[in-house]
Amino acid sequence: MTSPTISLSLVDTDPAELAVDAIVIGVHSQPGERVGDLVGTLLLASGAESIAAAFDGKLTETLALLGATGGPGEVIKLATLGTVTAPVIAAVGLGPEPTGAAPAPEILRRAAGAAVRALAGSTRVALALPLPDDADAPAALRAVSEGGLLGGYRFAGYKTRPQPARREPVAEVLVAVPDAGDAAAAAEVARAQAVANAVRFSRDWVNAAPNELSPPAFADSVASAARAAGLEVEVLDEVALREGGYGGITAVGQGSQAPPRLVRISYTPAGGGTGKRVALVGKGITFDSGGVSIKPSQGMWEMKADMAGAAAVAAAMLAVAELAPAVPVTAYVPMAENMPSGTAYRPGDVITMFNGKRVEVLNTDAEGRMILGDAIARACVDGCDYLLETSTLTGGQVVALGKKVAGVMGTPELCERVRTAGEAVGEPTWPMPLPEDVRKGMDSEVADISQVNAGMDRAGHMLQGGVFLREFVTEEVAWAHIDIAGPGYHSGEPTGYWTKGGTGVPVRTLLHLIEDIARQG
Ligand code: BES
Ligand code: MN
Ligand code: ZN
Repeated sequence: MTSPTISLSLVDTDPAELAVDAIVIGVHSQPGERVGDLVGTLLLASGAESIAAAFDGKLTETLALLGATGGPGEVIKLATLGTVTAPVIAAVGLGPEPTGAAPAPEILRRAAGAAVRALAGSTRVALALPLPDDADAPAALRAVSEGGLLGGYRFAGYKTRPQPARREPVAEVLVAVPDAGDAAAAAEVARAQAVANAVRFSRDWVNAAPNELSPPAFADSVASAARAAGLEVEVLDEVALREGGYGGITAVGQGSQAPPRLVRISYTPAGGGTGKRVALVGKGITFDSGGVSIKPSQGMWEMKADMAGAAAVAAAMLAVAELAPAVPVTAYVPMAENMPSGTAYRPGDVITMFNGKRVEVLNTDAEGRMILGDAIARACVDGCDYLLETSTLTGGQVVALGKKVAGVMGTPELCERVRTAGEAVGEPTWPMPLPEDVRKGMDSEVADISQVNAGMDRAGHMLQGGVFLREFVTEEVAWAHIDIAGPGYHSGEPTGYWTKGGTGVPVRTLLHLIEDIARQG
């Protein structure tokens, strides 16, 4: 059930003469003008000049009459009736014109995404959006390309027959640039394709039905994609996990008929890289029923997305193989299904983890930290300088930061690098503390640590997750835990380049960071 790929290429033909099904242009809003006096208050963004000329100066006026305001996310379609070659123009809102600068990359990324999404039903679409011709040009071109590809994503789904009224997603995106033969521009397009392809993989895995993506099936799918990308893959099955001392993954996995897995994916750069090693870890709970501490049934289906961290990490590796950064990267992906059954782990159990620490289980629904503790400890035994872990770990993240901003905990410098990387790519994160009193509250009467607050106090819920995971990171490793409980899955209406379902967060943050580490250590 994989979603279709979209092709992307550059064109330098005059947009007015492009033989495509639709041309996307940008419009800015003009704040300060009175409502009711809308005509003429729009401003066409650069890139649309030749199209405006073909309309004899009436394009802005016509768009305003059709209701365009230039607000972000707005898409107004217009039949061209022979004025230009393409039969349809789609004007996408870019918000107010930034003074003396091109729109921020995230504005362009969202606009391109919204436009390509709104143009489902057209096969070939050209984006004639404002691109600066200065040092910001690569970032803008990258943003437009990524946005177009991500906004055009559609999950294949499981319908047995095609829906008659359904408009097929855009198949081909052309980006209008001044010089389509420019090598630097071509490199940006190639990068955007690699990144968008990784996001597509992660969204497909997240959107898959949980009966179709049990831990063994998920492991097979990840392993075959990674091997096809030329990466080295090792899969530990339930026997290897039990014999290897992976107590956390084994405990969570033992309640399900579908046994757990730990997938290890390695990328080694030609020549060995800078000496710094990066480890990625992602939570792969293919379905989280809560286990014996069962969840309420309302909304439980969204727990098919409890492997969004695993999907992001595995998908990021596919792009790493293509982008070939000069730093070795290994991903550790623990996979299990959290189910209640006669063999399930239970509250009160004491589990010996991979690093030898003993954990008292108080709530089987805090399963993510159990499988992650083992995977983090294994990454530290193999050796790494940076450890980036991501997981749909706590509802507390959603309460604290909402559905768009991920929480990040760990060593302060790396947390700040995660925040900066997230800001650069449009995946916001915010640093959170790891307070000593929260750790104190997790002291166990019988074991080394309780899995959650010993009195089941939910205060600082997200922080308890971070504090617990810290127990499995060795001293010298710089680490960050990125809680994506909210941003990993989008249950609302599509917006910008986010479609419904898996978002692909934080694939692009991870890739940005890995490239940054490859450049500057
Ligand atoms: N997978 C959930 C967290 C989650 C909640 C992700 C909502 C996405 C949306 C996690 O395993 C969980 O159940 N967490 C519990 C922890 C508690 C039992 C300590 C929670 O958040 O309530
Ligand atoms: Mn849970
Ligand atoms: Zn979970």
